[in-house]
Amino acid sequence: MTNTYILAIESSCDDTSAAVLKNDCVLSNVVANQDVHRKYGGVVPELASRAHLQNIVPVVDRALKEARISQNELSAIAFTRGPGLMGSLLVGTSFAKSLSMGLNIPLIEVNHMQAHILAHFIDEGTKRPEFPFLAMTISGGHTQIVRVDSFFSMEVLGETLDDAVGEAFDKTAKILGLPYPGGPLIDKYAKEGNPKAFSFPKPQTNELNFSFSGLKTAVLYFVQKQTKENPNFIKENMPDICASVQHTIIDILMSKLKKAVKQTNIKQIAIGGGVSANSGIRETLQSLGEKYGWETYIPKFEYCTDNAAMIGIVGYHKYREKLFTSQEVTAKSRWELGNEH
Ligand code: KG4
Ligand code: ZN
Repeated sequence: MTNTYILAIESSCDDTSAAVLKNDCVLSNVVANQDVHRKYGGVVPELASRAHLQNIVPVVDRALKEARISQNELSAIAFTRGPGLMGSLLVGTSFAKSLSMGLNIPLIEVNHMQAHILAHFIDEGTKRPEFPFLAMTISGGHTQIVRVDSFFSMEVLGETLDDAVGEAFDKTAKILGLPYPGGPLIDKYAKEGNPKAFSFPKPQTNELNFSFSGLKTAVLYFVQKQTKENPNFIKENMPDICASVQHTIIDILMSKLKKAVKQTNIKQIAIGGGVSANSGIRETLQSLGEKYGWETYIPKFEYCTDNAAMIGIVGYHKYREKLFTSQEVTAKSRWELGNEH
């Protein structure tokens, strides 16, 4: 059988990434982060698209070099069509379209959220989920519980009604004066803190839906009140505040996950998205798995946050099914998961 070489491009938010896959194995996965957003406490869309423009050529170049693959050996170009920031998506989409046209090879559109889920099928020599499984995708833009029946057939069972869980981390961090993205810093401080030091309210949402905007407000009021009494409150209590907020978030996520397992009777659980890099979430999922007999799947760290390798694995499976995209394609900032053909 001949090998398939996919060049994948991801530019949906603030990371410019390119990867080369040989079948389902990753040969290279280059990610350029954009530091320009740090001082603004969040992603500035206009700055993001400009940075993508600067990064895309060198990032693709490096991905090909690291993979020791020449453009002429490529079988197809896969790219993130959506969902994401329009200006950012347009950079990757236009680049992928022109490269596929120039090389005269197929173009393959990929849904970013589907890619976070299918990242589990990258060949790492470890066990992969069996269909059907439940995927909890937790990132800066999304919070979803998805029933996955095949590579291309997925159903969203529940999602956030307001903020994404990554925003809960990032906005809490901002309140605490930490730079963007705050998730990894909260994770770091939480390791040294007491998760029961402070308690925050948990939202009452129906079914399998989530809500995180109330938590952010609760943290803000709590910190304002405490700082009034003690101006050094944040400095003196950073680990305990972080541990307590993280504990609340984990509780919210895990109680919905338990509910989803009960409803569907599916005990194969995979997590994906940037927030699944969180060490507290990883540990809790593993111990719940042991307690309830779930098979749990946690992606390698570099396949949790935005990366092109996950776009490449979807590209590979679409290539096998000849699910190609026409040159007429345009970026799609909103794109619901469903039947992803
Ligand atoms: O998937 P991702 O890279 O981009 C989106 O598609 O949104 O996710 C980024 C999000 C940010 O909110 C970031 O703070 C969060 O993932 N994140 C974390 C951790 N690492 C990244 N949140 C909590 N703990 C972490 N260790
Ligand atoms: Zn993402």
